[in-house]
Amino acid sequence: MAVIYKKDKQNIVTLTLDLPGSSVNVINLEFGEGFTKAFARLQTETDLAGVVITSAKKTFMAGGDLEWLHAVEDPQVVFESAELLKDGFRVLETFGKPVVAAINGTALGGGLELALACHYRIASDNPKIKIGFPEVTLGLLPGGGGVTRLTRMLGLQEALPYLMEGKQINPDKAKALGIIDELAESKDDMLDKAKAWILSEPDAKQPWDKPGYRIPGGDPRHPKTAQMLAIAPAMLAKRTYGNYPAPEAIMSAAVEGAMLDFDTASRIESRYMAQLVTSQVAKNMINTFWFQLNEVNSGANRPDGIEAVDTKKVGVLGAGLMGHGIAYVSAYAGLEVILKDVSLEKANAGKAAIEKIIAKRVSRGRMTTEQQKDILQRIKTTESAADLASCDLIIEAVFEDRDLKANVTAEAEAQIDEHAVFGSNTSTLPISGLAENSARPENFIGIHFFSPVHKMRLVEIIVGEKTSDQTLAKAFDYVLQINKTPIVVNDSRGFYTSRVFSTYVNEGMALLGEGQHPRAIESAGLKAGMAVGPLVVSDEVSLELMTHIRDQTRKDMQAEGKEMPSHPANKVLDVMVLELGRKGKANGAGFYDYPEDGKKHIWPGLQKQFSLNGTEKLSQEEMIERMMFVQALETVRCHEEGVLSSVADANIGSIFGWGFAPFQGGTLQYINAYGVFAFVERSRELAQKYGERFMPPDSLVKMAEKGQTF
Ligand code: NAI
Repeated sequence: MAVIYKKDKQNIVTLTLDLPGSSVNVINLEFGEGFTKAFARLQTETDLAGVVITSAKKTFMAGGDLEWLHAVEDPQVVFESAELLKDGFRVLETFGKPVVAAINGTALGGGLELALACHYRIASDNPKIKIGFPEVTLGLLPGGGGVTRLTRMLGLQEALPYLMEGKQINPDKAKALGIIDELAESKDDMLDKAKAWILSEPDAKQPWDKPGYRIPGGDPRHPKTAQMLAIAPAMLAKRTYGNYPAPEAIMSAAVEGAMLDFDTASRIESRYMAQLVTSQVAKNMINTFWFQLNEVNSGANRPDGIEAVDTKKVGVLGAGLMGHGIAYVSAYAGLEVILKDVSLEKANAGKAAIEKIIAKRVSRGRMTTEQQKDILQRIKTTESAADLASCDLIIEAVFEDRDLKANVTAEAEAQIDEHAVFGSNTSTLPISGLAENSARPENFIGIHFFSPVHKMRLVEIIVGEKTSDQTLAKAFDYVLQINKTPIVVNDSRGFYTSRVFSTYVNEGMALLGEGQHPRAIESAGLKAGMAVGPLVVSDEVSLELMTHIRDQTRKDMQAEGKEMPSHPANKVLDVMVLELGRKGKANGAGFYDYPEDGKKHIWPGLQKQFSLNGTEKLSQEEMIERMMFVQALETVRCHEEGVLSSVADANIGSIFGWGFAPFQGGTLQYINAYGVFAFVERSRELAQKYGERFMPPDSLVKMAEKGQTF
């Protein structure tokens, strides 16, 4: 039974949510039936004093059933299901008896909606409990009355950030905001308080069902609210480029609903819900941010049968930009850290950079001074390799130089024991080659972080030819231990993320070389949903570094008897770096100018340098497709070559690694959504117009023929 019904001597019924066979409560068909039965029975009670709703699980309720939401295609079905659920909630708040939510654990989405349909909310005073509406992060809206009730409870201005941004808060904050009425010390205390409240408020009513009720802060016609609403859509569009229908729908449902009676508002909310659930964007986001992210984090790519072992002490070689970041996230997760550089002074400079990051968090109230002290105490700086002796994991982040990396590998391996793992944070050097300098290549692996390390949640693990399963498992567990998301790829030039990311920036440069307007190129990148435009990010990476990597790759390929395919971006890079000496942001000049006393802006000479020479001015749509197709196609090649071993890794890696459009659900999901067959056709067209790089790989053509998807 999903809803357990129990009446006590005081005539109070406790409904305990306990979905059978599941570790969490979610709203699904079984739950719906349980609710309907319980609500019907409540209405037949003659001496009922009131109702307490709580949960038998660790969490109160996690939300809607995402499997169902992902699969359902008919908006009418969604609308009717939402209305049915809400009818039940409406009965609960209007049938005449006081109802209290006793929130013993996390209440998200549908869980919070149920709680808002109660007259009073008591939550356990546990800072780990999360309360909020995360629907928007999956392209959805709180369609179980969440929009309608929260706006009526807090007013539009207060409620919108929680609805549109998916912010989650703890009970303490929720109480300050007015979402929670009272906090409790323990479950018993919570139930006692719930019952006491019921007995003291026999005629409880929702504020919006009391005569004379007005929305806090006024409805949308109130001058102050109207002023905010006049600019809100434009501000939203500036952030989303129109790619995310969910926050738009939430705003519309809230604003339209605020001008109407409760039941009409609620029905409008259901209609928006039906539209969103069946939209491609929601399908993409649920697919990737729910199913595939869970698959990745639950270790689908971790070798089976190897027991998880926590890393205790990590040695970080190089205290520069990456090294200090790696040291910080490791110490933050509770690991001991040895931070080594060529001199104690340099190692200490790395620690000072960590202190700066921490101080900022403390000043913003995100970390206590106690945590600050603990973390810093766990990081020991040194210039001596002997201090690495008891480390069970080493991560090197020294300069990108093969010989130097060989030296530090030998130096560390002389100190650590035979079970310790050696990870390299190289961004470009193939792992199997670096492992040749290791005495224990089976213990050698790539652990590739992204900058800034404390903000980027992806880590790309690279398996070399000789890397053992034990080593992979250890690296994988370490990444989870530091609360990051690991994808596992096989060794290849640029691995997965750098290899595909470079196709995006190269396409931007190719467009520039053809004479497309730089501003139009940057806008197309942003409109495509990419985190940054291709030109500005090239400047940040450094045009000089890109030239250097390209030349090194050409040399390496020649040594293997291969020729590097030509690319129109090469000419642009050469002009910028060799002819103009505009080497990128660090150099103060690249595609952009970086005036010391002002904002960066596109270098005014850029358009003249690369002007349209009889080539046609392209539409934004065409530029967007070129940028998205090159990335998707290169991902297919990585998949075909076995660099990637799962679709989930491809999608998650693209979004968390280099900021591929989240609403598309990742590089391979982009192809699914486009339609594999249509994608192949369009690729061939692009190949004919712009070159071989758009030719669809054989594996994709076969998939299209067989009607398969990723
Ligand atoms: P960085 O120049 O900021 O730091 C390198 C540090 O290594 C310096 O502090 C240097 O003193 C130290 N070092 C040199 N020789 C050493 C030795 N024998 N023992 C100990 N420390 C030594 O460089 P960054 O940017 O942190 O890069 C480090 C590695 O991470 C490189 O392999 C780079 O390719 C890779 N990487 C860089 C990313 C980035 O965005 N900067 C992203 C991902 C990987």
